[in-house]
Amino acid sequence: MSLLLINGPNLNLLGQREPGIYGMDTLKSIESRLHELAKAEGFELECFQSNVEGELVNRIHQAFGKVQGILINAGAYTHTSIAIRDSLLGVSIPYVELHLSNTYSREPFRHHSYLSDKAVGLVSGFGPISYQLALQGLINYLRMSQQNK
Ligand code: DQA
Repeated sequence: MSLLLINGPNLNLLGQREPGIYGMDTLKSIESRLHELAKAEGFELECFQSNVEGELVNRIHQAFGKVQGILINAGAYTHTSIAIRDSLLGVSIPYVELHLSNTYSREPFRHHSYLSDKAVGLVSGFGPISYQLALQGLINYLRMSQQNK
């Protein structure tokens, strides 16, 4: 089974970007750790990052029929993008929303997400570990879905 990790705008700056909020790990190190964890569970993982909303939408479309589950940290687009929400619903691939920071303990404009209500689950506030928790949650969800078929 194949999974897709999507990271939105400014997450390419992890490691240098506001380390007090987002930690010191680079996106590359997070991605390689996640590759290993997915592999150990018998899943393939593809990773994609873009600062451009339309590129994120296009990548989600490409996943149709090829990917069984999506992990997404849409960055600031979480709070603004109906287009990303619609693309996830359009391909009907189950997804987990994740954030490094606890968006609900930050500015009010980060309290609304266009993705949460349709997600399998939401992980927020555990720094780079949010990615691992989201992966475990998604894999567990997919396994349970298989069993219930
Ligand atoms: C973020 C939270 C967003 O509000 C912010 O715009 C980001 C990162 C997080 O991972 O904590 O870019 O998604």
